[in-house]
Amino acid sequence: MKLLLKGGNIIDPAQNFNQIADILIENGLISQIGENLSAAGVEVFDARGLVIAPGFVDMHVHLREPGLEAKEDIASGTKAAAAGGFTTIACMPNTKPTVDQAILVSGILHRAQAEGIVNVKVIGALSKGQQGKELAEIGDMILSGAVAISDDGSSLDNNRLFKTGLEYTSMFGCPVISHAEDELLVDEGVMHEGAVSAMLGMKGRPSVAEDIAVNRDIMLAEYTNSFLHIAHVSSKGAVELIRQAKKRGVKVTAEVTPHHLTLTDEAVKTFNTATKVNPPLRSSDHVAALLEGLKDGTIDAIATDHAPHAFEEKDVEFKQAPPGFAGLETALGVVLTGLYHTGKFTLFEIVQRMSTAPASILGIEAGGLKIGMPADIVIIDTDLDWTVDSTTFYTKGKHTPFDKKILKGKAIATLVSGKFVMREGKVCI
Ligand code: DOR
Repeated sequence: MKLLLKGGNIIDPAQNFNQIADILIENGLISQIGENLSAAGVEVFDARGLVIAPGFVDMHVHLREPGLEAKEDIASGTKAAAAGGFTTIACMPNTKPTVDQAILVSGILHRAQAEGIVNVKVIGALSKGQQGKELAEIGDMILSGAVAISDDGSSLDNNRLFKTGLEYTSMFGCPVISHAEDELLVDEGVMHEGAVSAMLGMKGRPSVAEDIAVNRDIMLAEYTNSFLHIAHVSSKGAVELIRQAKKRGVKVTAEVTPHHLTLTDEAVKTFNTATKVNPPLRSSDHVAALLEGLKDGTIDAIATDHAPHAFEEKDVEFKQAPPGFAGLETALGVVLTGLYHTGKFTLFEIVQRMSTAPASILGIEAGGLKIGMPADIVIIDTDLDWTVDSTTFYTKGKHTPFDKKILKGKAIATLVSGKFVMREGKVCI
């Protein structure tokens, strides 16, 4: 089986490659990259005017399987990923039951083989049941294929347990991914603490709760010389702490979401529950610091924190709604509209942060277009104007703060191991 992608602007940060060329795919692998490639009897895809990049890698996705399939499942979540240009996603363990044992890691990987249309990686829990009392089966889960360990969804405030978890996980060369929000400080807060929360009379989640948690995480990672990754950074204090830690040589990496980069707490004034997310949308000074941190390499990657919920769960009063919303199908459009078309980031920088960097943090073979690698590819029309319509989403999570927004730029085809899983915006497998 051969496929020739002709005349696209190929961007591969893994090889510092950025030029118009052709890619030949043979038996699911990238076999040649060059100008004027031709091969007899080959399907040709005309990519002139389009960008060809390594398929996006989302290191922070809630697939909700097992147990929470009313919100999402492997089939719907991986379709949403393909629609958004993602070829590899890593799923978080805050499911029912919690993914805290090797058998559950193997089970998800097995189900993903049957149901998934993109590559699925599994992140195992740090503590049993994410209860913060005892460590989960970290070693066994990693040996069964888990690529990282995390109690995402909640902060693990027990310092002793977090320290041991870091030491143990690091022995396997894997990172602990921290959801850094001091639980007692955020308490029952539902949005960023600041002028808008005061005006709306809503209980806030102070940014210092994130700063304290990130500081603790960094101190323990530095002390134990372990691998630490900070999920969904949202506060300017956290950005500065990570920046300084990196300068000291601490093995810390970080991610930021498209929504934290482009929205502020002003969005909550609509009382739209789609704007409720943890950590919360913050004020513009925090957003500016996130953009600066992503630009200078303090923050390594963009990750969606795709957190779908069933429609009726979010269709309630703001205070009662669960935090999170679906992000896979809007991520690229939001990032291109907010970061690329505004001249803040180049396409090369965006691909690096959405493909190459997250693959490298997880230590997986993805995020590049080297000869011999699986042809996991996204094809992008950077200038396509489109209107977000959540009713057409593949994900079961129909809430998004970007609904009805006009975005510029979209993935128009996604290939996994050389096969189209999405073409002209439609999942095709
Ligand atoms: O808003 C969020 N929702 N943040 C998280 O960390 C967890 C996620 C979820 O699981 O719904």
